[in-house]
Amino acid sequence: MIPSIKLNIQIRKCLIEEHSMKQTAILKVNGEKPEKDKIRAAARIIRKGGLVAFPTETVYGLGADALNPEAVRRIYAAKNRPPDNPIIVHISNKKDVYRLSNEVPRNADKLMNLWPGPLTLILKASSIVPKETTGGLDTVAIRMPNHKVALALIQESAVPIAAPSANLAGRPSPTTAEHVRQDLEGRIDMILDAGPTEIGVESTVVDLTSKPPQVLRPGGLPFEELRRILKDVKLHPSVIADKKLRLDRAPSPGMKHRHYSPKAQLILVEGDVEALIDKIQELVDRYNEKGKRVGVLATDETRRSYRADVIKSLGSRDSPTCLAKNLFKLLREFDEEKVDVIIAEGVPLKHLGLAIMNRLRKASGFNIVKAS
Ligand code: TXA
Ligand code: MG
Repeated sequence: MIPSIKLNIQIRKCLIEEHSMKQTAILKVNGEKPEKDKIRAAARIIRKGGLVAFPTETVYGLGADALNPEAVRRIYAAKNRPPDNPIIVHISNKKDVYRLSNEVPRNADKLMNLWPGPLTLILKASSIVPKETTGGLDTVAIRMPNHKVALALIQESAVPIAAPSANLAGRPSPTTAEHVRQDLEGRIDMILDAGPTEIGVESTVVDLTSKPPQVLRPGGLPFEELRRILKDVKLHPSVIADKKLRLDRAPSPGMKHRHYSPKAQLILVEGDVEALIDKIQELVDRYNEKGKRVGVLATDETRRSYRADVIKSLGSRDSPTCLAKNLFKLLREFDEEKVDVIIAEGVPLKHLGLAIMNRLRKASGFNIVKAS
């Protein structure tokens, strides 16, 4: 190649990289009493159309002005998110629901009483919501997060904040600011770090435009609690599916996309605890024989029953809350351990177990082994 052309290409490459790399400011914030100057600095970025990652009670979110199409497009670019996957709009005041939607059904009131909390409501979108935020749908997802930093940021920005989980598309959601940094440093303007998140799995998504209302994603608010309040509410089949469903017309585009994946191949083993242990050990031995480095995602009650290269416990099987809190963190830790295969224990589908199993089944790409 002629030297001057080569140089030209190099300069162009360099300029493109420089243009797309940003300096990411990382600010430690007090989760109980967020410092005003830090929230102001973050809100200034949001109002100018920039990107700020912030903690919520579920996972860290990547926020932008939900009503600014250009700002929302930056979220998709930073995450490599497929453009048809809509983004949840975060509010700090229930009144904002009536700006974002002109059709708020009666049962929405009962659910809004659970706010702030890990519950997202799908409603018909009003004309102020850009198609970038809804992924081109005629509905909008809305939630009020239960975290002082998130609420202060939304209030100070004086706009609703569109925020997906602050991870690269397809990776486990971030439950610490460090996870956000690993995925997005250099791609976003700021990370507000208020320590690990409380719940550890994302919000429960309920579609109130369908009759009866339908859970599109199980999450931090248990289905049992929803059913107590709504009586007539069902789970979308994909929520509990243990096989890949053909979802050409998925009501929630997120259902179609690859999700929550650690770098290693994940195999999920489901069944009674005794049978689980035997089956998992059998699989570990089989992969070890093939020269693979194997990790087991176990629980406190079972961890001592295994021989494997890496064994990590999610916590006690008696506490689904604890299992949920550790799930994404441990999936990321396995990446650092450089295992080739992760064999994960299934847990009962009750309470937060439903959300955990939904994430594990998807992370396995439905590579599920039934132990009996
Ligand atoms: O806890 C959470 O919900 C976190 C924190 C940051 O609030 N956010 C979060 O966002 O998990 P994201 O984008 O990772 O997941 C949002 C899910 C996606 O599966 C998306 O397809 C679905 O909600 N969703 C958003 N808007 C929708 C709509 N209008 N109709 C159907 N599904 C929708
Ligand atoms: Mg996500």
